[in-house]
Amino acid sequence: MEKKFENLPKHIAIIMDGNGRWAKQKGLPRTEGHKVGAEVFRKICEYCAEIGVEYVTFYAFSTENWKRSKLEVTAIMNLFRRYLEEMQERYLENEEAGYRIRFLGAREGMPKDLIKLMDTVEEKSADKTRININLAVNYGGRDEIVHSVKDIAARVKQGLIRPEDITEDMISQGLYTAGQPDPDLIIRPSGEYRLSNYLLWQSAYAELYIDDVLWPDYTPADLDRAIEEYGRRNRRFGAV
Ligand code: FPP
Repeated sequence: MEKKFENLPKHIAIIMDGNGRWAKQKGLPRTEGHKVGAEVFRKICEYCAEIGVEYVTFYAFSTENWKRSKLEVTAIMNLFRRYLEEMQERYLENEEAGYRIRFLGAREGMPKDLIKLMDTVEEKSADKTRININLAVNYGGRDEIVHSVKDIAARVKQGLIRPEDITEDMISQGLYTAGQPDPDLIIRPSGEYRLSNYLLWQSAYAELYIDDVLWPDYTPADLDRAIEEYGRRNRRFGAV
């Protein structure tokens, strides 16, 4: 494969924002924005695999998104279900897809049939190596940290470790992203300057890139721009 970028991030994380505004601008229901957003998600996965990105993480549904209307929540879950069914078939029929797919977030609270599909897709894709795709669903960054801290507290209580032995690495290993590198670049389309509870622990040294494009209009050329800008930045990790 021809190298397209001098400095390609190993892990890119994306907040798929702006579906609602996109639909509103077009006089369509919000759910139409999510439908197109799910197509863009597929396209960007393909493009990331093509240019050699090793890890890509998408924010699809937060622990706070349950507060949206029932209609909208159901529409998003249906899009997610369709994607899972498609992926499940693809792994049976098309081994070369090469996507390793994992879901970040709490399984509790998700519809039962989706939990089963999520587990199946994770299992079936576990040996794939072309690209690692993470989809954050029912995900909250603070919730994830609490989850990890509870595990450590339980081990302390059992006398397996002492409080003074707790390390940053132990907290990382209890997160949904255990074993994966931290994101190098976090992209937020739609112009908002916030993380919205996304990858709070993992984003410590990530470069942030805010784009004005709404997610349903997002293209590989927009991703190229973010990667080029990333390549020009000088990451010092606290050093001088
Ligand atoms: C944020 O835009 C988007 C979401 C909360 C949902 C994203 C979900 C998808 C793209 C579909 C999920 C399915 C798959 C297969 C990944 P917003 O609704 O907050 O937009 P707004 O800020 O303009 O209202």
